[in-house]
Amino acid sequence: MTPIVKPFEVLFDVAERSTLDHPAYGPYGSLAFPAAHRDRPWTYSNFVQSIDGVASFGGLHASGSDISRSAEDRWLMDLLRAHADAVLLGVNTLVEETQLARQTGRGNPRGPVYAIADAGCRDLRVKLGRRREMNIFVTGAAALNLADYAVFDGERLDALIITTEVGAQRLAERKTHPHVRVIVAGENQFVDLPQAMRVLRSGLRIEWLLCEGGPTLYGYMARAGLIDEKFVTVSPLEIGLQIPPEQARSEAEQKSRPKFRPTTFNAPGFTFETAPAWRWMSCRRAGDHQFNRYRRA
Ligand SMILES: NC(=O)c1ccc[n+]([C@@H]2O[C@H](COP(=O)([O-])OP(=O)(O)OC[C@H]3O[C@@H](n4cnc5c(N)ncnc54)[C@H](OP(=O)(O)O)[C@@H]3O)[C@@H](O)[C@H]2O)c1
Repeated sequence: MTPIVKPFEVLFDVAERSTLDHPAYGPYGSLAFPAAHRDRPWTYSNFVQSIDGVASFGGLHASGSDISRSAEDRWLMDLLRAHADAVLLGVNTLVEETQLARQTGRGNPRGPVYAIADAGCRDLRVKLGRRREMNIFVTGAAALNLADYAVFDGERLDALIITTEVGAQRLAERKTHPHVRVIVAGENQFVDLPQAMRVLRSGLRIEWLLCEGGPTLYGYMARAGLIDEKFVTVSPLEIGLQIPPEQARSEAEQKSRPKFRPTTFNAPGFTFETAPAWRWMSCRRAGDHQFNRYRRA
């Protein structure tokens, strides 16, 4: 049950200390979170980016793991998942990573399940008293067919959808997977994210929520002031914001070739006056990878 990753070097850490003594903390050291807000979960995000701030190559290597290339970063994701009542994702991450698995033959052709792989982190989750793992997907369009995706089978974890009134109607018309719970917040295209977070806190009793992106969902969440913390791994790669002409296209890019890659924040941002300040809570090192934790000041 001891993790197979190398220990992280702690450069500094001023965050809360864990109250539980568990071997899963061995490689990373202490990790804990403040109590939830009264009306919404304590929400922390996790991203990996290149030195120049890029979150996805796009093309046939669009996933975060293509940037991370680090067993420690993958394991840290498990440690963060162990502390969260649920993982929140934009639906495009699921759709894109599923299409890529089909196109490249890497991974399950019915797509990923965003679950804890490390047995030690799974055990820690139980000791922390967290419930069965849960993936929550945000979609306004609700254009996906749930039967195409392994995550909605309900075998490994519970899966939920947050959508609008129009999106919920669309899902109901398809009548697949009636066991998948649908939460309605908002009317047409855009989910009302503050309302959705209130429902997660009061209706589902979610206290700690891990937002794993992608950049679009994260951007809208951050702009709405709904992100409390951001874990950012800096991978020792320089990638460039403009997609080079020689890069092979994914299926999704066949129709309209994007010019730019996303940073971790892909939504309308802030102005000079409104950009929020963050506190740098911790920094660790594993090889040439840097692991940061920031908290909204
Ligand atoms: N580097 C990393 O750490 C990291 C982390 C995660 C993902 N990624 C990569 O990022 C890429 C996907 O990112 P992405 O930015 O394109 O997609 P995304 O954020 O995963 O999903 C975007 C979708 O979420 C829904 N959505 C987001 N905000 C909404 C709102 N306020 N109301 C309604 N719907 C909302 C919309 O779905 P509908 O269009 O259905 O309405 C939107 O198209 C993938 O390649 C993935 O592998 C990288």
